[in-house]
Amino acid sequence: MEKRDHWSSRAGLILAAAGSAVGLGNLWKFPYIAWENGGGLFILIYLVAIILVGFPIMITEVGIGKISERDPVGAFRLLGGHKSPFRWVGLMGIASAFLILSFYSIVAGWAIQYSFHSITGKFGEVPAAQVATLMESPKNVELVKTTALNEALSKDLSDHDKKEMLRDANLYPPPPVGTELSSYTNELWLPASGGIKESLEKTGKLDKWKSLFHQRYVDSKEYDQWLAHTLRPAHSTNIFLELVDDPVKKIFFHLIIMLITTLIVIGGIHSGIEKFAKIFMPVLFLLMGVLVVNSLMLDTEQQGVRYLVFGDISKLKAESIITALGHAFFTLSLGMGAMMTYGSYMKKTGNLLNASIWITAMDTIVAILACLMIYPIIFVYGLTPSSSSVGILFTTLPLEFFNFQGGAILSLFFYLLVLLAALTSAISLLEVVVTYFVDEKSWNRKKSVLVAAGLIFLFGVPSAFYESFFDFVDSLTSNFMLPVGGLLIALFAGYKMDIDRFQEELDAHGYPKWVFYFFKTSVRYITPFLVLVVFAVQIKAWLV
Ligand code: PHE
Repeated sequence: MEKRDHWSSRAGLILAAAGSAVGLGNLWKFPYIAWENGGGLFILIYLVAIILVGFPIMITEVGIGKISERDPVGAFRLLGGHKSPFRWVGLMGIASAFLILSFYSIVAGWAIQYSFHSITGKFGEVPAAQVATLMESPKNVELVKTTALNEALSKDLSDHDKKEMLRDANLYPPPPVGTELSSYTNELWLPASGGIKESLEKTGKLDKWKSLFHQRYVDSKEYDQWLAHTLRPAHSTNIFLELVDDPVKKIFFHLIIMLITTLIVIGGIHSGIEKFAKIFMPVLFLLMGVLVVNSLMLDTEQQGVRYLVFGDISKLKAESIITALGHAFFTLSLGMGAMMTYGSYMKKTGNLLNASIWITAMDTIVAILACLMIYPIIFVYGLTPSSSSVGILFTTLPLEFFNFQGGAILSLFFYLLVLLAALTSAISLLEVVVTYFVDEKSWNRKKSVLVAAGLIFLFGVPSAFYESFFDFVDSLTSNFMLPVGGLLIALFAGYKMDIDRFQEELDAHGYPKWVFYFFKTSVRYITPFLVLVVFAVQIKAWLV
């Protein structure tokens, strides 16, 4: 067997593991779910979930890896006994890594495509030839007309328009005798203007007004320009749909991601993964810093920050807690052995608790920063974050970047950030499968990487063709395999293996006793209880 590779330094492990944790989960998923659940208090609940569930399992996984110096299957066998059923937990972890990477790599590939789009300025203005094609779709005609109406309503309309609209909306009772007409119209208009669209809808006159205001643009000199601008969201959605509907292109980029990942992982822990993380994680933080500062400067009223801190409590639901807990696993790369695998390459003298704190903290900070990068843009441009999967990352944000001077650069920075975050996560997923082959099948690293990456690439192909397959693999792993894996890992550390091994690890670095008791109580009682609750609620949701 080859001699086991090790991280060359504390920073090596921490950056590589933080690279695994920081990924699409932080950049896309977290800002979206935090928004949906009202920010503010939800962020607090998420932080509690990270401390009570994520952090203890982080210590457990890195610890099991470090103590056993094995792949997840070998680790459970070594620490739990040869016949222990827990070795299946290890195998499920390897399977999770395999499955997650097969679809994660496809989304990561989109970031390559979008980096190119940024350079070619694809989101800047809609090319004239495209305008005509876009206007063939009734949906886009509707978008243009609705925009015309909204723009008209946000301006000061003439008394004549106001009066006629009020009449059409059935909101214009005859004025009392002796009233001055124009002030009377205005009095009626002010409260009505908010709900005028609904009232017109009821009387069937909404279309008339949309067309009328649209016609005024058509008659103006700036129509072409206005139209090209108004159609930008439709254009951006089209660009995204073109990619999503093009399996061959998706497979091409999936292949590129798998090739880059292969090249890095073949280099091994020290000269491959650690080196990449040490160079590119600082780049990732730098890019993030630039984008956050840009967003904060843009949002002069700091509405984004206020939403993050105070939020909108009315959006908080009971399920928000479940969402926060569920996300904790995915975002910290827990429940499937990635952290175990990385922990298994720690030196004997490494500090388990310190590393776990750093990894967890970095992931959490990036998630919060992602909100600070995205929320101000949402407010300043009055966007509604769309739930349509990766909608906001790939359709709305590029548009907004191109509203700035130097939009191409901002947009490029942004997609490089997404690409780097996804790559460092993909590397850790591949490494889980590779370590399994190396440790369990005694294959050499090169053969293990080539076989693992080849199989994962092939398994990703159906996900590129069928969205339902993609969604199935995604939800099977994120909603089922990771929480179950996390629960069993906590139970293993709490009840099956010799938990004093963790105490030795902590004592070696002189931590006070209560740290171990916090850990022990968490893995024995708190974490399993909370994960079981998540799970029960999820099963209930599936059944009804
Ligand atoms: N943590 C990664 C993210 O937030 C995803 C991931 C899950 C990576 C599991 C490795 C293992 O995107």
